[in-house]
Amino acid sequence: MADLWQNAMDHAVTIARHAGEVVREALQDDGKKTVMTKSSSVDLVTQTDQKVEQLIIQSVKEKFPTHSFIGEESVAAGESCVLTDGPTWIIDPIDGTTNFVHTFPFVAVSIGFSVSKQMEFGVVYSCLEDKMYTARRGRGAFCNGEPLQVSDQEDIRQSIIATEFGSSRDPEAINKIFSSLRSILCIPVHGVRGAGTAAINMCLVASGCVEAYYEIGIHVWDVAAGSLIVSEAGGVLMDVEGGPVDMMSRRIVAANSRTIAERIVKEIDAFSPPRDDAAPPNQ
Ligand code: IPD
Repeated sequence: MADLWQNAMDHAVTIARHAGEVVREALQDDGKKTVMTKSSSVDLVTQTDQKVEQLIIQSVKEKFPTHSFIGEESVAAGESCVLTDGPTWIIDPIDGTTNFVHTFPFVAVSIGFSVSKQMEFGVVYSCLEDKMYTARRGRGAFCNGEPLQVSDQEDIRQSIIATEFGSSRDPEAINKIFSSLRSILCIPVHGVRGAGTAAINMCLVASGCVEAYYEIGIHVWDVAAGSLIVSEAGGVLMDVEGGPVDMMSRRIVAANSRTIAERIVKEIDAFSPPRDDAAPPNQ
């Protein structure tokens, strides 16, 4: 089995690099960006997201025909989002689609792989930085082959925290997001940042550049790969109210340490968006 997952991971790295080339080419050619919307006018998708997801799924299916998939754009097209015990590829073809649309230079291809509901490997390719982040369960996290280690800063007042506003514009959710942000900023922390992609934010935690990243409203495909990269770099994952993270709950704190994660949890005004694995309203 171990060798089989290594083959799968090698394939994920190859296909993520190829997908990244497609994303980079499309970024340079404004004419290729056909922008559409999904759940709201600020939840964007492009033909490149759809094309890259199909390219990844087709390529994996040829090599691993029995494996399952959870892909952002396939779910948007009506496929179910249920994590079984079987080998499952969890794919975000472009994490940072809004960045992609605006040519804001942080976009990533994110591929997580889970077996028995446990992440076995994660691959995040930051396309414009040409940084390939990888992690395999129990074997560490790497960027372009160099080992990653989270920051050893335990004082939140000496920390940078990453977060995002997401694509919900529900006034109640926005109030809670700002209330949390205000509390965290006023601890005070050194700064708050956001790359516009959950996957890259998590890789920044793993790299030791920021002490933590938190968000309510992300999806399983945004954080599947990044979560293993953080934990294999020595970090911790937590739900925004403390306790274990639930990958389908759309809530996450990823931090360098339990101390920093728990300090953030204290300041978060939590809420629960509809789960990723909730049945569509008409079913
Ligand atoms: C989004 C990005 C963004 C985060 C959103 C995600 P997408 O993913 O990760 O940073 O704030 O919650 O949905 O739509 O670009 O794949």
